Amino acid sequence: MTDGCGRTIRYLRLSVTDLCNYRCRYCMPEAGVEKRPHRDILSVEECVEIGRAAVRCGVKKIRLTGGEPLVRRGILDICRGLSAIDGLDELCLTTNGSLLPALAAPLRDAGVTRLNVSLDTLRPERFARITRVGSLSDVLAGLDAAERAGFSHLKCNVVLIGGFNDDEIEPLVGLTKDRPWEVRFIELMPMGQCANWDRERFLPAEEVLRRVPALRPCDPSGTAARYRVPGWAGTVGLIEPLSHRFCDRCDRIRVTADGRLKPCLHSAEELPLRGLHGAELEDAIRRGAARKPERHHLTDGGSETARDMNEIGG
Ligand code: 5AD
Ligand code: SF4
Repeated sequence: MTDGCGRTIRYLRLSVTDLCNYRCRYCMPEAGVEKRPHRDILSVEECVEIGRAAVRCGVKKIRLTGGEPLVRRGILDICRGLSAIDGLDELCLTTNGSLLPALAAPLRDAGVTRLNVSLDTLRPERFARITRVGSLSDVLAGLDAAERAGFSHLKCNVVLIGGFNDDEIEPLVGLTKDRPWEVRFIELMPMGQCANWDRERFLPAEEVLRRVPALRPCDPSGTAARYRVPGWAGTVGLIEPLSHRFCDRCDRIRVTADGRLKPCLHSAEELPLRGLHGAELEDAIRRGAARKPERHHLTDGGSETARDMNEIGG
């Protein structure tokens, strides 16, 4: 499946809920989001049906996102259904990590191949402040549980926030010394909750290279530029939607928890998929992919989506 700009689309990000047990300041309103009736959210069967249709269209990798996918009832059934699809190479999941102590092993058994865990800070009091309700010890226990369950090459997502965690770049990179993890620094994108934050909050990810001059480039992966400290076990990824737009390499489409296909994270365009089956569903997915915009306009006009991140899924 290709889009209108010749990009091959291989990657589906499927949001399974817009709810989350955390309230990260850049992502969610303090009061959380109104719980929607179950019928407004894709059922387990619909998630799997969309996954199957996407794979028939050429998708090789599916990532489950949220909100927080692990608060979704039936998440293990969704994982089992998707991992059983012939032709799917990878089933990944992005999580805040808090529920991994109980769920890491069952997720592995249900066919999840990779986990990305958010880890914006290593300091307990900062962690509590940015997540409003979270506890760092839960996430650290979750990372342990994930490793024990066999997720050895974990990715940790750090959203870089000026004046909040830029003084922790070195210790966060330090995690890759003995662990085969990828620590990925993501530029904070001005959208939803943080659209109007002060400019000092938005740092170029290159700041990481300035702070840790020992980092050397290695092969890129997807939308991340990759580096490593020679001799260390893990790698460091920089995800730079603002300073180095990676739209020309973008191979993804998104489906929201209420079943609407988004060709691009930052575009307002959405195509409803619910109620479609078989060839009609495939056709809608192909049409959605074909409508991917060439690039986003974050740095010249701003994100055009009206949704918060928890509704789209990172
Ligand atoms: N900019 C960059 N990343 C964001 N995320 C949520 N909101 C933003 C934003 N405004 C990230 C989360 C998590 C993933 C799901 O999306 O931190 O890593
Ligand atoms: Fe891909 Fe859209 Fe993000 Fe650009 S803005 S990288 S096209 S999802």
